[in-house]
Order: sequence, then C-alpha cells, then structure tokens
Amino acid sequence: MEYFYEMFEGLPRAGPGDNASTRRAFGAMKNLPPRPLILDIGCGPGMQSIELAKISGGRVMAIDNHQPFLDALETEAKKQGVDDRIETKNVSMLDLEFKDETFDIVWSEGALYIMGFPRGLRLCRQLVKKSGYVAVTEAVLLSPHPPAPLMEFWEKEYPDIKDVQGNLAMIEQEGFSLQSHFTLPAASWLDHFYTPLQRRLAVLTEKYRDNEEGLNVFRSAQKEIDLFERYSDCYGYHFFIMRKDR
Ligand SMILES: C[S@@+](CC[C@H](N)C(=O)[O-])C[C@H]1O[C@@H](n2cnc3c(N)ncnc32)[C@H](O)[C@@H]1O
Repeated sequence: MEYFYEMFEGLPRAGPGDNASTRRAFGAMKNLPPRPLILDIGCGPGMQSIELAKISGGRVMAIDNHQPFLDALETEAKKQGVDDRIETKNVSMLDLEFKDETFDIVWSEGALYIMGFPRGLRLCRQLVKKSGYVAVTEAVLLSPHPPAPLMEFWEKEYPDIKDVQGNLAMIEQEGFSLQSHFTLPAASWLDHFYTPLQRRLAVLTEKYRDNEEGLNVFRSAQKEIDLFERYSDCYGYHFFIMRKDR
C-alpha cells in the first residue's frame, strides 16, 4: 500500500474526472436550496469537492480514509479561497455516522465501487434528504464484446463491472429517479490522472530501481494506462445523476 499511495502523492486526482464533468452533473440538479449541504464520499485530493464548493455556493463535507489526500485537499481549498466551506473528515465510507437524510446532495466520483455499487447507492439514499440528489461515477463496459485482455483485467480488479444499462437497472431498483447520465470524455482520464501519473511513475521507477516490490506496483499501474490506450473505446467512467423522490 505504501508504494501505491506514493504514486498518487501530488496528483490532482486519484481517479478519472474533470471539472467540466462535475459542473455538467451538478447542472442536472434543479431547484436546489441556495446553499446546499453536500457530502463527497471518497473525495481523494478533492478536485471535485473544491469545484462543488465553488459552483454550489454551499458547504461540502469531504470524507476519505487516506489522510494525505485530505491534507492536500485542505491546502488546495485554501489556495482557491473555499476552505471556509469545505470540511474534511478521515473516516471510512463503511463507518459513516451521519444522521439519515442529512444532505441535500450526496456525491461520489469513482469511489462507490469500494463498497459495491448497489450498497453504495443504498448508503447515498439513506444519507440524502427527500427530493435531494445523488451524483456518482462508476466504471462501465461500453462494448458488448470487450476483448479478452481487457476482461482479464476487470475480472481481477472489479468483477462486478457492468454496462450502462446494468447500472441504470440498479439505480431504478434502489428507488431513485434518473435525472441524467453521460460517459466521461477520454480527456478526464488523461489530463488530471493518467498523464500526471505517468510522469510520477517515471520518477518512482528510478527511485525504487532496486526494489522489486515497489517496481511491481508501478508496473501494474503502467499496465492499466497501456490498457486504456488500447481499449478506451470499450470501457469508461459514467456519471449517473439521480433524485430521491420518495
Ligand atoms: C479512485 S479514488 C477517487 C478519488 C476522488 N473522488 C477522485 O475522483 O479523484 C477512490 C478514493 O476512495 C478512497 N477510499 C478507499 N477506501 C475508502 C473507504 N473505505 N472509505 C473512504 N474512502 C475510501 C481512496 O482513498 C481514494 O481517495
């Protein structure tokens, strides 16, 4: 884990995403209170938490269980002048103790898979107020016949991955009404995630050149980037924006 986390040090994101997509998802939410209370689950270094504080005019509770991410978020929030509206909390998404129906919006980019998408949706539903919104991104298969090397990767990393329809069915089953959904552009994998990660891998591969354990971690990250270069038309990250109507 030590080498894994070192790869992400100083990176603007810990997963695919970008501010334009965060804004687009937020834009699908209508009749919000003037200063909504937002929960960001698995916020990482918090690019989207900061953007949400800016565009919503509200307050963001950003939670993650990796303190260095929260420290980076706080530093950046201060730099961007929104630190007075973002609170960070080092807690596992599996142990949240917020009262039911606390938040106007529950947000989570690339993190619900950690507890499993259906369980994650249930948690969001529990914590969001009635008529409130939930916006999440999730990895999806975009091709009906994904190539074998890609499926080998997903079977190891996330065997529960589904296509868009499979996720929409779960959203309906959990009782949400879908507001909007869209696939993130390839640039949101590259600009703030894989491109800076690739630069970091070059540095770390040199730093740990005699450390096989570290090198294995970096090789597997490189494999993931290579896979995206080859097969990015077969999978992606998808934003789902939904409302709790009942
Ligand atoms: C793929 S990253 C996404 C980070 C961020 N949302 C982004 O898009 O840049 C997943 C995040 O979930 C966090 N995480 C992992 N397990 C967690 C848990 N049990 N509770 C809370 N956060 C967790 C990781 O530390 C990491 O920041």
